[in-house]
Amino acid sequence: MRAIVTGGAGFIGSHVTEELLRRGAAVAVVDDFSAGKEANLAALKGPLEVLRQSITDLDGLHRAFRGAEFLFHLAARTSVPRSVADPVETNCVNIDGTVNVLVAARDAKVRRIVYAASSSAYGETPTLPKTEAMRPDPISPYGVTKYVGELYCQVFGRCYGLENASIRYFNVFGPRQDPSSPYSGVLSQFITALLEGRQPVVFGDGEQSRDFTYVSNVVDATLRAAETPGVSGLVFNGGTGGRFTLNHTLALLAKISGKPANPKYDPPRAGDIRDSQADISLTRQMLGYVPTVDFEEGLRRTWDWYKSEQR
Ligand code: UD1
Repeated sequence: MRAIVTGGAGFIGSHVTEELLRRGAAVAVVDDFSAGKEANLAALKGPLEVLRQSITDLDGLHRAFRGAEFLFHLAARTSVPRSVADPVETNCVNIDGTVNVLVAARDAKVRRIVYAASSSAYGETPTLPKTEAMRPDPISPYGVTKYVGELYCQVFGRCYGLENASIRYFNVFGPRQDPSSPYSGVLSQFITALLEGRQPVVFGDGEQSRDFTYVSNVVDATLRAAETPGVSGLVFNGGTGGRFTLNHTLALLAKISGKPANPKYDPPRAGDIRDSQADISLTRQMLGYVPTVDFEEGLRRTWDWYKSEQR
């Protein structure tokens, strides 16, 4: 099997790449290294090709996708506040880039594309947990772009017969999540702050909640979306079904690390949703997905990884 992973040098993409290699696939990573890192791929073993290639360049994608059977599309600008600060850039990468990926996948006669969608598509829909049947109502430019990507996947299925499935990721965390930017995911920021003896910064009152999902769970859901017959055109939640506030998360981290969390509270961020929690019944039923690493275990593993990186 030859698989392409766009964004394969990034946090989640490198874990998808690692698991594909472990299962015996030949993998080509397509990444422009704007957020991805060589170091994320350094320890991976197996037939891996790394192509420095932006998804905003259609000709380059046509060359890169030749001979591919499966395509995992994870390349994106991934930050909500970055999209609020620069909606044009996020739109260009996440929507124009996704259309390029779909055109090149169609032309390469890829068997199926799996798209990394986002729970941000739900926005502030009041009901929890979120089910895929709810009407999306994003409240940030980022959420709009990720939702539009799903629609484009489905339309490429209808118009050109390109098999597709989307997984809406819910706040994925774990080893290799880059903590270095102000736009980095909250758990990477909290953990590195504690490790470095800095105060973690909480935007808002800390009572906002997320379905924090350890990365191996979404990797499993993502590969199931590629290999399960009869699911083309569908969208699945990739979460755990749980929900934890930032304040509770800091308390757990204090317990794991043995250090007081002592957070600093700053004003809330524009574009932030308040609560997020996945209903994973459909993913369970149709893909046979069961999350195997719970939040606390995931936090421990992630803490251990950042600690080992410090040395
Ligand atoms: C995250 C992902 C996004 C993904 C979505 C759903 C990142 C950067 N964003 O968005 O790609 O599509 O989940 O899976 O991984 N916060 C703090 N202190 C900080 C950083 C953040 O309090 O230092 C707060 C934020 O204001 C927000 C919450 O933590 O309320 C989560 O923020 P963040 O980790 O950026 O994730 P989402 O915006 O939920």
